[in-house]
Amino acid sequence: MKKFYITTPVYYVNDVPHIGHTYTTVAADVLARWHGSIGEETFFLTGTDEHGANIETKAKTLKLEPKKYADQIAAKFIKTWQELNIANNNFLRTTNQVHIKAVQKALRYMHDQGDIYLSKYQGWYCRGCEQYKNERDLVNGLCPDHLTRPEKISEECYNFKLSRYQAELLKKIKKDELEILPLKRKNEMVSFYEKEGLTDVSFSRKNVNWGIPIPWDKSHTVYVWADAFLNYLTGLGWDGSAGQSPKFWPPAVQLMSKDILRVHATIWPAMLLSLKLPLPKKIFIHGYFLINGQKMSKTLGNVIAPDDLIKKYGVDAARYLIMSATAFGHDGDIGWEKFNDKYNADLANGLGNLVARVSNLLEKNKLALKLKINSDKKLVKAYKDSLENFKFDEALKLLWQKMRSADEFLSHKKPWKMLDSKKIKNILQPLAQDILNAASLLKPFMPTVSEKIIKQFTAKEIKKGEVLFPRI
Ligand code: MSP
Repeated sequence: MKKFYITTPVYYVNDVPHIGHTYTTVAADVLARWHGSIGEETFFLTGTDEHGANIETKAKTLKLEPKKYADQIAAKFIKTWQELNIANNNFLRTTNQVHIKAVQKALRYMHDQGDIYLSKYQGWYCRGCEQYKNERDLVNGLCPDHLTRPEKISEECYNFKLSRYQAELLKKIKKDELEILPLKRKNEMVSFYEKEGLTDVSFSRKNVNWGIPIPWDKSHTVYVWADAFLNYLTGLGWDGSAGQSPKFWPPAVQLMSKDILRVHATIWPAMLLSLKLPLPKKIFIHGYFLINGQKMSKTLGNVIAPDDLIKKYGVDAARYLIMSATAFGHDGDIGWEKFNDKYNADLANGLGNLVARVSNLLEKNKLALKLKINSDKKLVKAYKDSLENFKFDEALKLLWQKMRSADEFLSHKKPWKMLDSKKIKNILQPLAQDILNAASLLKPFMPTVSEKIIKQFTAKEIKKGEVLFPRI
């Protein structure tokens, strides 16, 4: 049986989930549901990244123990994903004891192999990114992502011999053995390898207490990224043993946005080589959601929370709006007005209205149809190709085109003006069949609504039913 393992990043618990995290998570859910539906054995992992300097500070300002604080936010992530009908197979918290033990075991192995050695780090560190920064990464002395001045640190540390893996990784990336998508992102990484190259990176912090102790030197804690990356393995039950792939390894695809591409295309695969494990097959970098051209931020007060989306539109509509908002690999502007317009056009006046019109006519004319989902081969193929190439918006457009032509056909034929029930049936039956087929393909995006439509249109007597998407 073909296996399909998909991951999202483990999200930092410095904040509650927003629509950016939701985007990656719903996309992973759609792909997991799709691959499951075509008979692949699927595992979908998400979780939270809970250690590090940033969380430590955040908890301190709230006068909470870091673990207490992390518990609260992790619970919020778990609850939000449940509300959004996310069907993840595991939720990995990096404070989980099994994860911690495995990280220690893995690092000890890397140390024993000579891939981790004692050194000293002197330079910049951005807490927001939890990353060491070169002068050339900064813009006017500030971290371009966080617009804050990184702190200058000078501390003893254990370094990871990242430089050792430069040649091997560059080769694998070029040959798509580690496929980085879209192509533009692969080219960026190739150019990074060729121009800047890999230098060793500190894998421990001497002055951060909120982390996993380095097993052979408890005066250090593990650098939060080294800890976090291993979630992709421990989330499958891996115990930290080098050379031992857990079931489902390696990931078919890992989703994220560009903020964390570089570390995922350098440190992460280098750790896997050091641990003698296969690399992920694909990394897909999706775009950022922007609001009126700006990044979402608390200070700007423009953050959209998944809770608000659900309250306003319902779960399935929220999932639809997120996945249809922009082309997956590109940045895209979103906002309440756009969501309202799209909700009304595609869902209230589109799908919802078509389902209501056709089912109403069938009920009125007391027509029994006995429909079954019969796959429209051309549609299925185009839909599958779009989805498997991460073109979520195009996959949805295919279904909406089908429904739009059904709607036009209905308006053109005007069966409500007819009396001959055979003629009426000849018009409505293929339309109902189109709706049923589209609904079945819509399942990964809108699991509940599509089930409802399928139930409605496969019933002995098709009834009008409740309004699916009330107009806003
Ligand atoms: N904890 C690290 C990841 C460790 S993975 C081993 C981290 N966490 S994060 O909470 O900052 O999440 C970053 C990810 O959230 C992005 O890569 C992306 O998947 C998602 N998004 C956060 N904001 C986003 C947008 N504005 N738009 C789209 N997705 C974004 O980095």
